[in-house]
Amino acid sequence: MIALTLAEVAEAVDGRLAGVATPYAAVTGTVEFDSREVGPGGLFVALGGERADGHDFAAAAVTAGAVGVLAARSVGVGVPAVVVPDVQVALGRLAHEVLHRLPRITVVGLTGSSGKTSTKDLLAHVLGHHGRTVAPPGSFNNEIGHPHTVLRAGPDTRYLVLECSARAPGHIAALCAIAPPRIGVVLNVGTAHLGEFGSRAAIAASKAELVQALPAGDGVAVLNADDPIVAAMAQATAARVLTVGRADDAIVRAENIELDDAGRPSYTLVCPGGRSAVRLGLYGAHHVGNSLAAAAVALEVGMGVAEVAAALGTARPASRWRMEVTDTDDGVRVVNDAYNANPESMAAALRALAAMAAGRRSWAVLGEMAELGEHGPAAHVEIGRLTAELGVDRLVAVGPIARAILEGASGLAGEPVADVAAAVELLRREVRPGDVVLVKASRSAGLERVASDLLASEQPAAAGVLP
Ligand SMILES: Nc1ncnc2c1ncn2[C@@H]1O[C@H](COP(=O)(O)OP(=O)(O)OP(=O)(O)O)[C@@H](O)[C@H]1O
Ligand SMILES: [Mg+2]
Repeated sequence: MIALTLAEVAEAVDGRLAGVATPYAAVTGTVEFDSREVGPGGLFVALGGERADGHDFAAAAVTAGAVGVLAARSVGVGVPAVVVPDVQVALGRLAHEVLHRLPRITVVGLTGSSGKTSTKDLLAHVLGHHGRTVAPPGSFNNEIGHPHTVLRAGPDTRYLVLECSARAPGHIAALCAIAPPRIGVVLNVGTAHLGEFGSRAAIAASKAELVQALPAGDGVAVLNADDPIVAAMAQATAARVLTVGRADDAIVRAENIELDDAGRPSYTLVCPGGRSAVRLGLYGAHHVGNSLAAAAVALEVGMGVAEVAAALGTARPASRWRMEVTDTDDGVRVVNDAYNANPESMAAALRALAAMAAGRRSWAVLGEMAELGEHGPAAHVEIGRLTAELGVDRLVAVGPIARAILEGASGLAGEPVADVAAAVELLRREVRPGDVVLVKASRSAGLERVASDLLASEQPAAAGVLP
């Protein structure tokens, strides 16, 4: 964070100083809500969690070097605190104030039903070639992760890449109020969290909050021309619109898309500034759209088309369990995509599996896609149908939802298994050298253990990259 005195922090969040001997002591380190992460000069944020109350760790944070604590109550003698009625709200206000003091930063907000983290990682990698870039690790995209990331920015930060997620209407607008983006990217509107939102229109309205937050003057909305619901958001923004996609009329587009034997896409990046060949090190055709969105942002901030294409080509999987490819010594390729799943990302992963298999025997080990509400059973039947249609050789359906998946996959050699352990047992028995095994389900299914157990007895020859 930029250096701020405790008095300035208190002013920014409308807080009251308690137990502060020197209000001019400055926060010069990072802002943390995990006391174990606090270092010298840091600010500790005492959040109340389900299992633990941050206030209990305030003294430890100060011992670890924190200059003060952002807290809901005074936390005792010798523990300087800025006391506010709502710590989470204050964290957002502090982030807003810090950003306000860093006017040179370009803030990029990203949303979509699938691909936010993948695109965030790609974009951070590409922009990193152009200027100092701050982006959250993994999927740190909610009301806490968002301000936490903003507070990592400093005077030398040029780009701030933020992943915006929503579980209810208004969430994305609230994130945009904390860190108003100049550039907003909407990747797609799918059916993730359909159970909570009730309809796809409600999901679309929630994602549109991002483009509604963009400024009229220099704002830019990067919209996926291949997704009609996203393309229609051009009407919802005052910002200039930059369309991306495979569509002929997309301003930044991909031509001549091909997948190599490992399922990695290459294409020609075409934009008003020229064209350049892109060869991605990521697996699956869905990364064409993700990389186009990243390219559009990079071009927008002044990078050249060849520079963008080259930078895209050196990006590798950066966040765990998303199409994480590992080859075992005896030639089994395990594709761990068990980070999460919804109907669109399931379909994307299955298509990638089909491309990767290319003559090898393919396995889909699939578990439940959660949070689909009443649409759940039909969505699982449909995924089974797609698995069969794509010519996947073996299907292992895990857990109570297995029946629905197998119902859709009639004609395919499919087996229901009760749980992760049963899936591992079956795979250990039947997988042969040369096979390609995709593992995918929602986080709650814990299927990443299928991948790790399958690899446990093996020595990985390569992770994320091909030999
Ligand atoms: N454009 C896309 N279309 C469909 N599936 C995608 C796309 N991009 C990534 N995926 C797949 O979706 C899953 C989640 O990817 P990623 O973590 O990038 O998305 P996310 O939007 O950040 O998810 P979350 O909402 O959990 O934060 C992975 O399995 C990934 O392979
Ligand atoms: Mg994410």
